[in-house]
Amino acid sequence: MSNLLEITGLTKSFGGTVVLNNVDLSVGAGEVRALLGENGAGKSTLIKILAGIHHEESGTFAIDGVKQTFRNPHDSALAGVATVHQELMISPGLSVAENVLLGTKMPTRLGKIAWGELNRTAEKWFAELGQKIDVSRPVDELSAVQMTMTAIARALCLDAKILILDEPTAALTDSEVHLLFATVKRLRERGMGIIYVSHRLEEVFTIADTYTVLRNGSKVSEGKVVDTSIPEIINSMAGREVSSIFPDRSIPGSNEILSVRDLSAKKIRGVNFTVKAGETLGIGGLAGSGRSEILRVLAGAQRRASGTIELHGNVYLPKSVGSAQSDRVVLVPQERRRDGLIPGSILSNIVITTLSKLTNFGFFSSTRKERKMGQAAWEK
Ligand SMILES: Nc1ncnc2c1ncn2[C@@H]1O[C@H](COP(=O)(O)OP(=O)(O)O)[C@@H](O)[C@H]1O
Ligand SMILES: [Mg+2]
Repeated sequence: MSNLLEITGLTKSFGGTVVLNNVDLSVGAGEVRALLGENGAGKSTLIKILAGIHHEESGTFAIDGVKQTFRNPHDSALAGVATVHQELMISPGLSVAENVLLGTKMPTRLGKIAWGELNRTAEKWFAELGQKIDVSRPVDELSAVQMTMTAIARALCLDAKILILDEPTAALTDSEVHLLFATVKRLRERGMGIIYVSHRLEEVFTIADTYTVLRNGSKVSEGKVVDTSIPEIINSMAGREVSSIFPDRSIPGSNEILSVRDLSAKKIRGVNFTVKAGETLGIGGLAGSGRSEILRVLAGAQRRASGTIELHGNVYLPKSVGSAQSDRVVLVPQERRRDGLIPGSILSNIVITTLSKLTNFGFFSSTRKERKMGQAAWEK
């Protein structure tokens, strides 16, 4: 019997650079294949070819033994491939149900969309995934895992044979990951073939049956997950012996830099901790438990209600993000795209908080100085 998906010699370049080089890959019915590789290895490019977004330069792929050429994403969907992209492509402004059924035959009554039936159909697909969700909600209000589920429900609705998940867990909490895995297992039992891209190897070892590792666009290893180990995969991804995933821990000094006592604010009550020079403090907790709020208070982005904070033994009460930064306390926020960056160049993002040092008599003028500072910070 032929495989559900059989890719042979797939090659693709962008502007003269080969990003996929003669790659073979197969997925059988009921198989979850992890597609692994460092950033830039070519994973998303391979997936985008299967999704009809990019076109192969050479090589072939067949679904159920039938050779395919996709001119566009519609061709890919018709051939039974459903892709949940790294950047989720949902249609904002529409309801969950509309997103699930979009592009399929919408149920109508007397020429109008039959909303009741539309919603019931969408609910049925969520039930297949073991999920219950109010499908009349606007999709914009959903959590990350619910959006992923919506994209997967849509795959079911389109009767996909092959489901491709590109970094589906990047924005999910641990419990949401469990939810997603339960769903993936159900789909595997239905005989779907699944390609699963993730950076988190522990995760891959729980969910995948087989793996393929790409490096610089070439397939460097493949096999069954039970026959390999995380260190082996890491070496294969990196192309060299990687002796440790994390650098050695430095031993914190005795010099206390930050001391937080009885801190209370919105969502936080009576929090105490200290941080010494050279120390990395991990803060754990479920989503919504107040982790981000602690950090926001420290970074001057949220008001403190009571308690004391000391920085280098001095009372520290940042009134704004800017005042925290002048005390050299900086937050890299969770939602970096939304909160952390301003539109513009990398350089202006790096030096934005130091504009006062770059102005001459109040005019923003020193482009050369700006470049030098930005470059130095990047290299650090
Ligand atoms: N549309 C594009 N135009 C030019 N280069 C691209 C494009 N998409 C990806 N690349 C390049 O192709 C290489 C592989 O990228 P990608 O497939 O996104 O890797 P991965 O998903 O494994 O991180 C990278 O060097 C990337 O910069
Ligand atoms: Mg990618």
